[in-house]
Amino acid sequence: MGTVKRVVIVGHPVAHSRSPLVHGYWLKQHGIAGEYGVRDVAPEEARDFFARFATHGLAGCNVTIPHKEAAFNALAEADEVARALGVANTLWLEDGRLCGANTDAPGFIGNLDATAPGWDRDRSVALVLGAGGASRAVIYGLLQRGFEKVLLANRTFARAEAVAAHFGPKVVPLAWDGLPAALKDARVLVNTTSLGMKGQPPLDLDLSPLPASAVVADVVYVPLETPLLKAAKARGLTTVDGLGMLLYQAVPGFARWFGVTPVVDAGLRDLIVADLAAKGQLEA
Ligand code: ATR
Repeated sequence: MGTVKRVVIVGHPVAHSRSPLVHGYWLKQHGIAGEYGVRDVAPEEARDFFARFATHGLAGCNVTIPHKEAAFNALAEADEVARALGVANTLWLEDGRLCGANTDAPGFIGNLDATAPGWDRDRSVALVLGAGGASRAVIYGLLQRGFEKVLLANRTFARAEAVAAHFGPKVVPLAWDGLPAALKDARVLVNTTSLGMKGQPPLDLDLSPLPASAVVADVVYVPLETPLLKAAKARGLTTVDGLGMLLYQAVPGFARWFGVTPVVDAGLRDLIVADLAAKGQLEA
């Protein structure tokens, strides 16, 4: 093996990924001669790609949509979060064995801890919108942090029920039209749907019933300030954008591959914000 460690992000499509910018920033900051690139793997090739991971000359990889499940299935060893969710986004080799973790859940929580200290002071009720992959990571993180109840609203109720069944009685599925009535109890509101993403309809929700101390987080980061976050700010609520989750989920992988635990600093955030701006993705 060469001395320069090579890591990629695996997805399909993957060209849009900001992970190379994030890891490139840290490599430069720490003077590490590593490489972080992208690898587009077609869905029908994913199983084989992960099964033969040790032959690719890579120290590890990140995994994004739609391969997180295939990655998990190929692991010889998985961390607790990955095992609980059945998906992995951070992989590395240990004595030739493929090991993996899910850093989306800790990334979500780490970002809230860093950017909205005290966000979890009242752990009675969280309200999560959406029942896709991001939703599961967010719910796992909230339950780990000790939230007593997670209300889960989704357009397709059956998907909310399926996610709730996975986590047990602390997660309560809600019909989408039950959302306005649930706001008054929510200490934390998290959007994990694609609503508010550039090119998608906004999340049209009157936030006035939310408690004045509520924290509103969005997993969407294109645009950085989604209509939901804008409305929450206008109400004087604490808001947390989706970019931080992307940055914080990257920390454990970098530490694992390159041996230094990096810091999410203002320079890193500025770099990604500048890239969003350059691509016209900063504004709605
Ligand atoms: P991810 O894995 O990234 O979370 P996903 O699995 O495609 O993405 O999930 C997208 C989420 O956005 C789902 O909860 C979806 O609701 P459905 O389960 O009903 O499809 C939600 N979503 C997308 N468009 C929506 C819309 N117009 N109104 C309400 N919810 C929407």
